[in-house]
Amino acid sequence: MSDASRNTSLGTSDATAEPEGLSSHPSDAALATTIGALKLRNPIMLASGTVGYGPEYEGLIDFESVGAIVTKTITRAPREGNAPPRLAETTGGLLNAIGLENVGLDVFLNEKLPEAAALPTALVASVAGGSPDEFAELALAVGDRNEIDAVEINISCPNIERARRPVWDDPAAVAGIVSAARGATSKTLIVKLSPSTADIASVAESAETAGADALVVANTMPGMRIDIERMRPALGNVTGGLSGSAILPINLANVWKVAGCVSIPVIGSGGIASTGDAIEYLMAGARAFQVGTALFSDPEAAVAIAEGLLRDMETREFETIGEYVGLAREESRVCTEQIPAG
Ligand SMILES: Cc1cc2nc3c(=O)[nH]c(=O)nc-3n(C[C@H](O)[C@H](O)[C@H](O)COP(=O)(O)O)c2cc1C
Repeated sequence: MSDASRNTSLGTSDATAEPEGLSSHPSDAALATTIGALKLRNPIMLASGTVGYGPEYEGLIDFESVGAIVTKTITRAPREGNAPPRLAETTGGLLNAIGLENVGLDVFLNEKLPEAAALPTALVASVAGGSPDEFAELALAVGDRNEIDAVEINISCPNIERARRPVWDDPAAVAGIVSAARGATSKTLIVKLSPSTADIASVAESAETAGADALVVANTMPGMRIDIERMRPALGNVTGGLSGSAILPINLANVWKVAGCVSIPVIGSGGIASTGDAIEYLMAGARAFQVGTALFSDPEAAVAIAEGLLRDMETREFETIGEYVGLAREESRVCTEQIPAG
């Protein structure tokens, strides 16, 4: 039994109903997990930017069957986002360059939050600032609200960062942001990393040392396409973030690397569309995972994954979701190992 399963709050989960067709063992409570102080009824989180602020998807997604939703990233001032086109399909994936369009902090807190908080699942607020102070201000503002269960800081949006060496690739800059946010809230602090780094393990260690409670590994991968009829980049922003199945192997390898180097929980993200995809992330060392792009073609994908996990646990005779965590690793923490190229 792994650490994760020992930490799991099995008896206290509020989700005890079983999907139809499943026997009484394992129960839904077997899916419960914890990320810092955040108690999740199951390890399935809906990724930031793919379900708006939550209520937009009421009636399409059964929120009682997911562990948490993560809001669209909120900035201090409202943002209109990037020029269109903002989406381009690609083989096995989706390029987006939304540019963090959002209503801004005040409208979120006053108008969006009451409805989002009424949804029957945990609520994680995603925020992004332009400086460590602004991250702290945002973390304080959302962390102070009882309706918000955890704060996710987005240091990895590829659509607004223009620097040659973006902050997400700089362990010292990441430490500055994380320690500022850490000082501003006692809520569970989740830091969302970028896959576009020279050394994601160093960035992860830096975030952990600065006080992160958990890491999302990882955001989208920068990319572009060209519209050959218009002879121009397909996206108004030229480049965008690649998501969907195409990035699963990349982010899975990043989870593998990071989970070997940090002690805090890792939350997998990138291309998860099936129960098997989710299990790969868990076996690589993730303790929870986020589903995003898959919801666009199948809003019920997350619920299907929850049901699939229960079936798989029954087949493997697993009692808790924690039994998957790191199963594919021969040793639980091997930080120096290299992933062979070629
Ligand atoms: C249209 C779209 C908008 C997104 N907006 C955000 C965002 O506001 N903040 C954020 O942290 N990630 C954002 N993401 C990234 C997702 O949360 C997720 O990390 C990424 O898409 C990889 O997971 P997936 O392949 O399951 O979609 C967005 C992704 C998409 C496709």
